[in-house]
Amino acid sequence: MDIHGSRPNEFKTVEGWLDSEAKPGRVDIFGISGYGGVGKSYLLNQVLEYSQPMSRGYLKITADGQDSSILGDFMALYDRKFAPKTVPSGKPNFDYFPHARALVQQRARLTKRIEGEIEKADMPEAAKKAARLIFAAGTTVNKYSKKTKDAVDFKALQEAGAVEGLDMGIDFLGRVGVMVGTSWLPGPVKNVLGITYRERLRTDLYGLSSDEWVADLCAILNRPQRKDRYRLFESPIEGLDRLLLVIDDFEILGKTIADFVTSALIPALEHANFHSTVIILGRDALPDAHVSFQHHLSRLVRDKIRLERFPDDVARQMFREAGHPDSDIPTLMEESQGYPFLVSLLCEAKGGGVSFYQQLYERTTRWMAPMEKQWVIPLSYLDRVTKPAIEAMLPDAPASVVMEWFKHEASLRDPNAEWYVIAPYIRRMLKEYHCKEIGPKRQLEMIAKGEEASLLA
Ligand SMILES: Nc1ncnc2c1ncn2[C@@H]1O[C@H](COP(=O)(O)OP(=O)(O)OP(=O)(O)O)[C@@H](O)[C@H]1O
Ligand SMILES: [Mg+2]
Repeated sequence: MDIHGSRPNEFKTVEGWLDSEAKPGRVDIFGISGYGGVGKSYLLNQVLEYSQPMSRGYLKITADGQDSSILGDFMALYDRKFAPKTVPSGKPNFDYFPHARALVQQRARLTKRIEGEIEKADMPEAAKKAARLIFAAGTTVNKYSKKTKDAVDFKALQEAGAVEGLDMGIDFLGRVGVMVGTSWLPGPVKNVLGITYRERLRTDLYGLSSDEWVADLCAILNRPQRKDRYRLFESPIEGLDRLLLVIDDFEILGKTIADFVTSALIPALEHANFHSTVIILGRDALPDAHVSFQHHLSRLVRDKIRLERFPDDVARQMFREAGHPDSDIPTLMEESQGYPFLVSLLCEAKGGGVSFYQQLYERTTRWMAPMEKQWVIPLSYLDRVTKPAIEAMLPDAPASVVMEWFKHEASLRDPNAEWYVIAPYIRRMLKEYHCKEIGPKRQLEMIAKGEEASLLA
């Protein structure tokens, strides 16, 4: 069944987002949210395939979480995702992002120097690790601001065994000059004088990265800005005059780029001489994905949708089209509950192998650390996730750490519940998966244990 059959309304809505007339300086933000595997990326890709925005002047840039090796590395994400080496309809072997690329190179030089200093520094290994991680995340360090600590990816620190080195690592980076700059000259003045490029590389990485990126986009879209007249412009791509920025997998990518996008990039786009359409896909709705979407960016959020499972008639029809006999359909409906990823797996498997719960388990936990994966299944037996309930289910784990992690784990939480609990469909799937591993008898014990622990909540 094609997308017009499975998601007709959502298709029209998203297609409509791309229908606006181009207005330079306008920024429109849209959100698509929903559980993992519900079909967010699929829907957007279908809309883009059908409506071919390229042919209507859009330059599409996609940042997603596909490449897990660079998720915590701000500069690598900037270099490879925001400033891709090849641009659709562009000339082959031509770098359309010279300013962004130069910044990446300059920053790499600085990184080498800072890493040398970290290496030489007389401080414990944990502090060195913390300093390296903070620096790689591109977080601006200001030792007087608590913000830095909030912005640090706590999970990455834990995995590296660097938590206890955090304060010392921050102090160290402050000492070697990776600190917030207080003076703020307008961008053009700074650039003309060339003064603060180096300073900004250290202290205003997000602002500088945005300015350089926007300058490259102005060139590609052939919309030079007055303040950039000293820059070299060449090779605009014929027919392109507006930007479509897609940020997918925001629940994971956001850990590294949310501050950059919300505090620097979107404000820079508002000053750019072209129209920007930003579509953000993630498991949480925009206001829950980052606080700025409730505050200063809320005026730019034009629309958002939440995807749910397929209606029953759509799922049934898909099973029929995949060649399943009518007699199998009630079981398939029960197994999939109409969730697109499960429906598509069952359509492919024509009968549903055991491995399909495993595939969903792997998809749901794909970005979790090994330790977190161990917590997931016991927590799926809880009707409410609270500290005492965690202590009962996971006696060997640090309950407050598990609780904090759970609160921020958008892949699991039920966004509709008033308390913390795993989403019903994921709970069900995790328990089915577990049952295959431990058998129904031991599972009954787990269920009883979960019920008892939930009462402690
Ligand atoms: N409308 C649809 N019609 C047919 N199949 C679909 C549809 N939506 C989703 N699917 C199937 O479900 C799979 C998962 O969808 P998708 O990758 O878009 O999920 P997602 O919401 O982006 O998940 P994640 O949050 O994990 O990135 C697709 O690969 C596709 O096989
Ligand atoms: Mg996706």
